[in-house]
Amino acid sequence: MTKETLNNKIHYLNYCGLPWNILMIDSFGDFGPCCDKVLGNMSEYENISSIWNGEDLVSLRKGLVGGNVSKMCSDCVYLKQMIRKEYASPEEIKDIWGGLRPNPPDKICKRGPKVITVDFTSKCNLRCIMCKGDGLERINNREMDIETIEELSSLFFSGLESLIVGGGGELFCHSNYHFILDSIIKNRPKISSINTNGTVSLSFDEWGKCVEAFDVVMFSIDALNEKTYEKIRGKNHFSQIFRNIDILRKMKKRKGFRFGFNFVIMDTNVEEMYDFTVKAVEKWGASQINFMHVHGHNHYSVCKNGDLSNKYNEEMKKIHRYSKTKNEIIFTLPGFIQ
Ligand SMILES: C[S@@+](CC[C@H](N)C(=O)[O-])C[C@H]1O[C@@H](n2cnc3c(N)ncnc32)[C@H](O)[C@@H]1O
Ligand code: SF4
Repeated sequence: MTKETLNNKIHYLNYCGLPWNILMIDSFGDFGPCCDKVLGNMSEYENISSIWNGEDLVSLRKGLVGGNVSKMCSDCVYLKQMIRKEYASPEEIKDIWGGLRPNPPDKICKRGPKVITVDFTSKCNLRCIMCKGDGLERINNREMDIETIEELSSLFFSGLESLIVGGGGELFCHSNYHFILDSIIKNRPKISSINTNGTVSLSFDEWGKCVEAFDVVMFSIDALNEKTYEKIRGKNHFSQIFRNIDILRKMKKRKGFRFGFNFVIMDTNVEEMYDFTVKAVEKWGASQINFMHVHGHNHYSVCKNGDLSNKYNEEMKKIHRYSKTKNEIIFTLPGFIQ
C-alpha cells in the first residue's frame, strides 16, 4: 500500500463513522446513513440485517475506507469541511461525530446499527425557515402506515441501542401517533428519544405514554426569546410549548429520564446561544441541550462572514466554560468555526 493510499484510508476512516453506526428511515421507508441521503427503500429488503449488510451500505463503507468515496459522500458538506483540515484530532472527531469511530466494514456490519432514526411522518404543522430544500418538499401528508410501523418496531427496535424519533416531520401530526407510542413501549430499545416542536397540545395521559416510550424528550425551539422564535418557526408558540413542558415536568418518570432543547444555529439566533443555554438550564429545567449547524446546504453559510463566525465562536467559548460547571447536564456542542 502506498503512503498516499494509506493516508487516504486513515483520512476517511477518521472522518465519517455514520454508515457503520446509524440507519435513518423516513416515512417513505427510504433509508440512508445520514440526513437527506437516500440509499434505498425498506421494501426492497427482507429485514434489517439484509439492509445493513446489503450492497448499498456495504459499497458506501468500502468507498470510505478505500478512498474511493461515493458521489453521495463526496458531496457531503461535513466531509468537505474535514478534508480541508487534513487530519482531525481525536477531540475534533469526538465533537463532530459524537465519538463514533468506524471499524473495518466486514467485521462491524454484522452487529447491526447502533442507532436508528425514524420519521414516522413527513407531516408538520410548522414551516421553519431552516427546514427546507429536500426536507420541505417532503413536508406533505405522508404517514408511515400501520403495517410498516408494526413491522419496523417489532423487527428493529427490541435490543437496539438507540432509537431517535423525529429527524423530519412532527410525530404528533401523525394520525396514529398513539399506535406508534404503544409500538415503541412494546418493543423498547435500550434508549429512545424524540425531537418535537412541542406545539401540539397533549394531555396528561398522552405525556404519560411519552414518558414510557422515551428516555429523552427534546423540544426544538432555537431561540431565547419569542420574537426570534417567531422569525424562525413562523408563529409564537411559546405558551403552548411551555404548557406541555409544565405537564411533562409533573409526570412521574423513570430514573435517567431527561428533557431538553434543540437549537439550530443560524444568523438569526447566533447571539442568543449562551443566554439561551443558561435560561434553558436554570429556568426551564433542561437536563440536555443540543446545538446543531444547519444541514442540507452549506452549514457554514449561516455564519460565513468573519463577523458572524466571531460571534459564533465567542458564544461557543462561553457555553464551553458554562458546561464545565454543569456536570449533570448533557451538552451537544459542534466545533468552532475556523
Ligand atoms: C426536522 S425536526 C423534526 C422533529 C420536530 N418537528 C422538531 O422540530 O423537533 C428535527 C430537528 O432538526 C432540526 N432541523 C430542522 N432543519 C434543520 C436543518 N436544515 N439543519 C439542521 N437541523 C435542522 C430541527 O430544529 C429539529 O431540532
Ligand atoms: S417543526 Fe420540525 S419538521 Fe416541522 S418545519 Fe420545523 S423543524 Fe421542520
